[in-house]
Amino acid sequence: MSKKLWGGRFKESINDLVDRFNESLSFDRRLYAQDIRGSIAHSRMLAKQGIISDNDASRIIDGLTEAKREMDRKNHLDSDLEDVHSLIEKVLVAKVGAAGEKMHTARSRNDQVALDMRMYVRDAVTRVINLIKEMQRVLIDLAEKNIDLIMPGYTHLQPAQPVLVAHHLMAYYEMLKRDKQRFYEDLKRVNVLPLGSAALAGTTFDLDREMVADELGFDSISKNSMDAVSDRDFVIEYIFAGSVLMMHLSRLSEEMILWSTQEFGIINLPDAFCTGSSIMPQKKNPDILELIRGKTGRVYGHLISLLTVMKGLPLTYNKDMQEDKESLFDTVDTVEDCLSVITLLLKEVSFNGDTMKQACEKGYLMATDLADYMVVNGSTFRQAHDAVGKIVLYAIDNKKELHELKLEEMKQFSKHIKKDVFKWLEPASAIKRRNLLGGTGSRAVLECIKQAKMEINS
Ligand code: ARG
Repeated sequence: MSKKLWGGRFKESINDLVDRFNESLSFDRRLYAQDIRGSIAHSRMLAKQGIISDNDASRIIDGLTEAKREMDRKNHLDSDLEDVHSLIEKVLVAKVGAAGEKMHTARSRNDQVALDMRMYVRDAVTRVINLIKEMQRVLIDLAEKNIDLIMPGYTHLQPAQPVLVAHHLMAYYEMLKRDKQRFYEDLKRVNVLPLGSAALAGTTFDLDREMVADELGFDSISKNSMDAVSDRDFVIEYIFAGSVLMMHLSRLSEEMILWSTQEFGIINLPDAFCTGSSIMPQKKNPDILELIRGKTGRVYGHLISLLTVMKGLPLTYNKDMQEDKESLFDTVDTVEDCLSVITLLLKEVSFNGDTMKQACEKGYLMATDLADYMVVNGSTFRQAHDAVGKIVLYAIDNKKELHELKLEEMKQFSKHIKKDVFKWLEPASAIKRRNLLGGTGSRAVLECIKQAKMEINS
């Protein structure tokens, strides 16, 4: 068993099971690049402040730079050390001797791990924002490509009114826009330097925290050392933003699963994103979309898990907080994978325009438009609603759709119906009448697409 950083005070060595239970290297090794970058900035600052010599600092920096190169090639990672911080210090001391033992001056693992996590989340936020943008681009393209297609819009999963496929797709663009804002919001709070807080109370050494903040690209410096080493809000916020994003991806997945069923039949999923059955030769199953829907659950789980870990912790650092890592890392992996895979899939889906058009002609989707027509012709909306309700009932009894009724049949229910009604009853005309801001009219949707293209490049 390797020597502990804190071994001095102990008579007995740690129990094997406890050692395994306590260790975090198996998962926090992911932080090595951030850890090394932080240590380099810290050492440079220690030298500038005269706390260590320039010579020691340059040996530390060279040693860390070399360690980083080796770790990039996966060396030194299989070790029985307690955590990534112990590992890097050990590797460094093996390379540069006593100088390496000075690196941890004026620092604790508590502010060190807070720093590493902040740098990790900062990188993860940048990546996820780029992935969201890429998915938005694909949605915009798909909307533009299918700008003429009309599909049934649903409420309660019952046919409601015709909408443009492009309008439906652009709804997801809007959701993703909010997701992006949530991640940007997290970034503001992530980008605060905790280093210099040491274990909890700050340090007796005269540090230049601004210098470290500048070198590491932090916008500001933590104001309270006790808060800085206890705070994991920024991790929770990443997982929260990830949870809402996953909820959106899950809803889109659910819709595509439904749309690809034989019953809906309005979308074709690419073969490369589906799987077959080991027994039923005819099957083409939307497993990838189901997995995205399913993986949403684990991200929600991580959110609740970390909120629960934090809720009873007295200030300041407690080992419970080590539990933040697996939750965060799994969330990052899940969110990035799901975004990447759904973006690829969206590039290859196609819509069945004819099926969608036929679906718009069944199920009385034009009933609201018929009521609006009567209002234009002098009825009150309430009267018109009632009359159309009766017309729909009559049509159902006679096994007809609205446009299949004769003018005389309709006229029995309202004096506000004339022969131009049949033009109103075409789904395409329902779309044309909805060019108000935010509506499903082609002009309105094209305007949104235009704005979206500008937004995304800004
Ligand atoms: N592995 C620890 C964590 O992830 C590092 C900090 C350890 N600090 C301590 N005081 N034991 O939280």
